[in-house]
Amino acid sequence: MARVELKNLRKEWLGATAAVAGVDLAIEDGAFVAVLGPSGCGKTTTLMMLAGIYQPTSGEITFDGARVNDVEARGRNVGIVFQSYALYPNMSVLDNIMFPLRFKTIERADAERRAREIAALVRVDVLLDRRPSQLSGGQQQRVALARALVKRPHLLLLDEPLSNLDAGLRLTMRTEIRRIQRELGVTTILVTHDQIEATTMADRVVVMNGGRVEQEGAADDLYERPDTLFVASFIGSPPINLFDGNADSSVLNVHEARIPLAESVRGGPVVLGIRPESLQVGDGGTPARVTAAEPMGREVLYTADSSLGVIRFLEAGAEPRHREGDNVSLGFSPESALIFDKASGRRLDVRIAA
Ligand SMILES: Nc1ncnc2c1ncn2[C@@H]1O[C@H](COP(=O)(O)OP(=O)(O)OP(=O)(O)O)[C@@H](O)[C@H]1O
Ligand SMILES: [Mg+2]
Repeated sequence: MARVELKNLRKEWLGATAAVAGVDLAIEDGAFVAVLGPSGCGKTTTLMMLAGIYQPTSGEITFDGARVNDVEARGRNVGIVFQSYALYPNMSVLDNIMFPLRFKTIERADAERRAREIAALVRVDVLLDRRPSQLSGGQQQRVALARALVKRPHLLLLDEPLSNLDAGLRLTMRTEIRRIQRELGVTTILVTHDQIEATTMADRVVVMNGGRVEQEGAADDLYERPDTLFVASFIGSPPINLFDGNADSSVLNVHEARIPLAESVRGGPVVLGIRPESLQVGDGGTPARVTAAEPMGREVLYTADSSLGVIRFLEAGAEPRHREGDNVSLGFSPESALIFDKASGRRLDVRIAA
C-alpha cells in the first residue's frame, strides 16, 4: 500500500493543449478517492501516468515519497480495472487471475494459492474452472478485479469499472468494491461519471476540469461549499439553479428581485446559486408560477417562472401538490444561497442578509 503524490503533473499530446495541465494531489495510504469530471478532462490520462503506461511531459509522481516517473509499468505494482475489462477468452478464470503473476519469481503452487485467496475475497472462487464467456457481466467484472488485486498492488486504479453493468449490479458492485478495498486497505482511485457512485464509495472526491483539479474534498464540502461555479453546477442532481445578477454594494439585483446582502461587496456581475432542495413553498418569498411537475419517486421536481427567472424546486412526496399554472411563493434560507463572481467563477465569501 502506498501514499501517492502527484506534483504539478502535466501531459501534452503533440499539437494539442495539455490533457493534464498541472495536477497536484496527495492521496493518503489506504484512502479511497473518486475522480469526477466531464468527458475529456484528463481523468484516464492521469491514471495512465500513475500506472506507468504514459510518460508525463513534466511533473512528478511519488509512491511513499519515492519518485516513480522512471519506473516502468511492471515495476510499479499498480492494479488496473478499465471499463472494458477484457479477460483472456481462452483461459480459465483461475488462469486469468494468475496471469499477472507469470513474471514473478514465485512457484506455481504459491501463485495458485494467492489467486484462490483473492478469488474468495471477490467471491468468484466457485467459478475458477469456467471460461470468461460462461460468466455474467458482474462475474466477469469481479474476475477483472481479482486479476488487478492478485499482485497485492500498492495502488488500485479503477477507470469507470461499473459503467457496463446494469443498474442493480452496479449497486451490488459498489458495496462489494468498497468492502474489498477496506479489507485489503489498498490505496484506490476510482474514475466515474456517476456522482452518487463517487460520493457513496469514496472518502474524498476530486473534481477535474480542463486538465486541472477544480476542487477536492469530502462530498458534503463540495456540495455545500463549492469553490467555483463549475463545481457548484457539476455536483448535485437535479442541478443547482443559477441566476445572473449584479452586486451593488450590499444589494444583489437579480431580474426584478432586490436581495439584501449581509455585508457589502465589490460591485459587478455575479451569479446567484440556489439548489432545488433549498427552496420551500411558503407564505413569503419569491412569487412563482408552476410550469411543470415531475414526480421522481419520493420527491416531485417542479419548474416555475419566478421573479428571479426560471427556477426548479423539489418537494418531498410521491404525488404533486401543485399543478401547472398554480401560483406559489418560494423561500430559501439565506445560508443555502451561494454567490459567485461571474468573471472568475469563484465563490464569494458573502451571505444573503437574514
Ligand atoms: N493517445 C492520445 N493522443 C492524443 N490525445 C489524447 C490521447 N489520449 C487522450 N487524448 C486527449 O487528452 C484529453 C484527455 O483525455 P482523457 O482520456 O484523459 O479524458 P477523460 O477525462 O478520461 O474522458 P472520458 O470521461 O471521456 O473518459 C482529451 O482531449 C483527449 O482527446
Ligand atoms: Mg476516460
